[in-house]
Amino acid sequence: MANIHLAEKPATVTAGVVPEPVAEGERNGRTLEERLRWFPPNTHITVRGLDKRFGAEVIYDKFDLNIPRGKITSIFGPNGCGKSTLVNIISGLIPYEGGQILFDGKTLDETRIGYVFQNYREALFPWMRAVDNIHYPLKLMGVPAKERKRRVDALIESFDVPIDFSSYPYQLSGGQMQTICIMRALVVEPEVLFLDEPFSALDYEMSLLMRDRVQRIFQERGTTMVIVSHDLEDAVWLSDYVLLLTRKPTRIAEFVEYDAPRPRTDDTVSDAKFIRVKKRCLDIFLKEAALR
Ligand SMILES: Nc1ncnc2c1ncn2[C@@H]1O[C@H](COP(=O)(O)OP(=O)(O)O)[C@@H](O)[C@H]1O
Ligand SMILES: [Mg+2]
Repeated sequence: MANIHLAEKPATVTAGVVPEPVAEGERNGRTLEERLRWFPPNTHITVRGLDKRFGAEVIYDKFDLNIPRGKITSIFGPNGCGKSTLVNIISGLIPYEGGQILFDGKTLDETRIGYVFQNYREALFPWMRAVDNIHYPLKLMGVPAKERKRRVDALIESFDVPIDFSSYPYQLSGGQMQTICIMRALVVEPEVLFLDEPFSALDYEMSLLMRDRVQRIFQERGTTMVIVSHDLEDAVWLSDYVLLLTRKPTRIAEFVEYDAPRPRTDDTVSDAKFIRVKKRCLDIFLKEAALR
């Protein structure tokens, strides 16, 4: 696929720094090739004309999406609408029937990504100590031991969490295991990090700690992050954008921006803008869920 940044934009799509989902009306009559050729500035991932079904059930039908670079985008929508399916497709874990997905105009094969699974209990190697689990992807990449140690130590220092990294997974709490999973995904310095409901199995205290650490890493590195969440407070607190999805066949209901300064803190949740954005997301969600 040729570099597509410089292509001219189609007349009906408005330019802007905020990625705009291509609305149904604008899409009509345009070929996939035409839609693929243009995306807003600061877009990292483009999804064009995505078709995905499971048997007779259509999940996505010519679905278009722009995911911004260097931002945190949360995906929120009714249960079963295809949130996990979407991140699994974008990150190459499951096949799809049609469409194009590009990272900066590059394919997935040319892009380094990280993925944090919802089910952390099955995600770590039980026979490896926590620290060795984090080393593992670097080992696979052939990074020399000294450099590996430098990167892992720096990550551990930056996370600053109360974990004995010489423990085996069975000796850790759920929250600690998920922390290791997130660190393992980050250690390769991915261009994009996908997290599927990363805090869903954690207790409240641990989820507050973890969202703070994810924000800290984001501020240090500016990694593009895509987070599936079922908790609207987490989703808004962490995000620059909340992608609200409809029920199936799934479309974009709205792309809600939340531009509060970082670092966001415990006080953020009582901030007027936070409450307004969360309410807006909730209203859209309820409208979609009620239609089921
Ligand atoms: N491997 C599969 N085989 C058949 N149906 C599936 C499979 N994975 C997901 N689905 C269905 O696709 C829809 C979207 O699933 P999913 O992406 O997991 O939803 P969620 O938005 O809750 O993450 C659901 O109706 C689910 O039952
Ligand atoms: Mg899911």
